[in-house]
Amino acid sequence: MMKREAIISIKNLYKSFGGKAVLKGISLDVNKGEDLVILGRSGSGKSVTIKCLVGLVEADKGKIEVFGTDITKLSNVELNKIRVRIGFMFQNGALYDSMSVRQNLTFTLKHHTKNLSKEEIENKILEALDSVGLKEAIDKMPSELSGGMQKRIALARTIIINPEIILYDEPTSGLDTITAREISELIVSTQKKQKTTSIIITHDLACAKITGNRIMILKDGVINAVGTYEELEKSTDEWVHSFFI
Ligand SMILES: Nc1ncnc2c1ncn2[C@@H]1O[C@H](COP(=O)(O)OP(=O)(O)OP(=O)(O)O)[C@@H](O)[C@H]1O
Ligand SMILES: [Mg+2]
Repeated sequence: MMKREAIISIKNLYKSFGGKAVLKGISLDVNKGEDLVILGRSGSGKSVTIKCLVGLVEADKGKIEVFGTDITKLSNVELNKIRVRIGFMFQNGALYDSMSVRQNLTFTLKHHTKNLSKEEIENKILEALDSVGLKEAIDKMPSELSGGMQKRIALARTIIINPEIILYDEPTSGLDTITAREISELIVSTQKKQKTTSIIITHDLACAKITGNRIMILKDGVINAVGTYEELEKSTDEWVHSFFI
């Protein structure tokens, strides 16, 4: 069997804020093409973990390899070369209110890739909007869109740069169950279409079930359980099981 290639590899990651330990030795690998879900109570350090991955939060200790490079040792210039290959859908990641959908996406594209022609920009925008089923929203302002539509545009903004890794922080929060399911299915179709590797942080069990090839649960600063949805759902550990009811 071919050895699976870890595209993200975290070893013994520690992070404290003002003397309060949040991460106490997190280790995890994400294989190429895999969608990994992270579950955990509010405040358990899920967002901090993925922010460490892109250097938005500096780790206190530990190794964080992305595409085979330890990012904790990189200069800002070198870190940026890694960051442009990663899409980040932030928790509460809002669109710019004063810009139309087209302008929001153009802004992201221009920031990411210099020297794109008008035509290339237009094509990429249409392609990304088509992926999330919202081509007709191109000239709308964010205020004219529903919460679910805004999430889909935020997803389009994340995928428009063709990232190899996508980090999703609560992609379905605040949505009704049907809209949430649509977003979860879009995450899966993006993974299939663009062959991306993803980490999905969620409190939404349906999202975890639809998107997660593997699930990890964070507790007290460490990974407390790992498995498929079906495995963890059947866990006899009361605490693990409590996530699935
Ligand atoms: N920049 C920061 N400065 C100080 N403390 C921080 C910072 N970022 C996070 N924390 C603290 O670290 C802990 C973990 O935060 P984190 O945002 O990772 O939680 P989370 O698991 O994502 O929770 P939620 O499910 O509510 O989003 C919290 O106690 C938070 O207050
Ligand atoms: Mg969070």
